[in-house]
Amino acid sequence: SPERERRRYGRGPDREQPISQCVRCCDSEPHPSYQLVPQVNITPFKGEKGDTGERGSYGKAGKAGNQGPRGHIGPKGSKGNAGVPGDPCKVYYSAFSVGRKKALHSNDYYQTLVFDTEFVNLYSQFSMFTGKFYCYIPGIYYFNLNVHTWNQKETYLHVMKNEQEMVILYTQPSDRSIMQSQSLMLELQENDTVWVRLYKGERENAIFSDDYDIYVTFNGYLIKPKSEL
Ligand SMILES: *[C@@H]1O[C@H](CO)[C@@H](O)[C@H](O)[C@H]1NC(C)=O
Repeated sequence: SPERERRRYGRGPDREQPISQCVRCCDSEPHPSYQLVPQVNITPFKGEKGDTGERGSYGKAGKAGNQGPRGHIGPKGSKGNAGVPGDPCKVYYSAFSVGRKKALHSNDYYQTLVFDTEFVNLYSQFSMFTGKFYCYIPGIYYFNLNVHTWNQKETYLHVMKNEQEMVILYTQPSDRSIMQSQSLMLELQENDTVWVRLYKGERENAIFSDDYDIYVTFNGYLIKPKSEL
């Protein structure tokens, strides 16, 4: 039919050749792609089953697989060995305790309280010359100051860190002279100084001593170095 003809050869007049390379087998030379095996019933001639053949050689190695998921966290390890010995030149102790036998009166200037007696002065970190403790080991320090007041006079001192007043030791004038003290802890950096300052004469004041006994003490020690904090 014309309809079937059009499907085979396309529509246009210039379309004389088939569109598809597909060819109906009946249109071409007989060219079978397989051999026909004669259908013979072989059952009556079947022999016994042969021995198993030898195993073949191994094939080539396969491609590497993908990475597996992360495993569970393992148990905690055992305690490590002791560290190497510390540097013997490093000083992790600091302590001083100094005393004063002389009284001191205020004058026109602030005065640094200096001391004349060394009870303890580890590594000379307290300077008897300047009256100041010099911090060589950063850390937390404890300081304590004890003085004897002068009767009928004020007592007006500060414990100083560098040029800053940290705490005051103060008493009003009184008929009786008494022992007074002040204590504090400070966190110090290298080269910080800690010292005691007597207030200047605009506030007439004094601390008592008698050149014989030690009435005044200033004490300090390292509680914990910063490297161990
Ligand atoms: C402390 O003072 C010494 C001597 O002046 C200096 O060599 C050192 O660098 C100072 N340290 C700090 C932290 O300022």
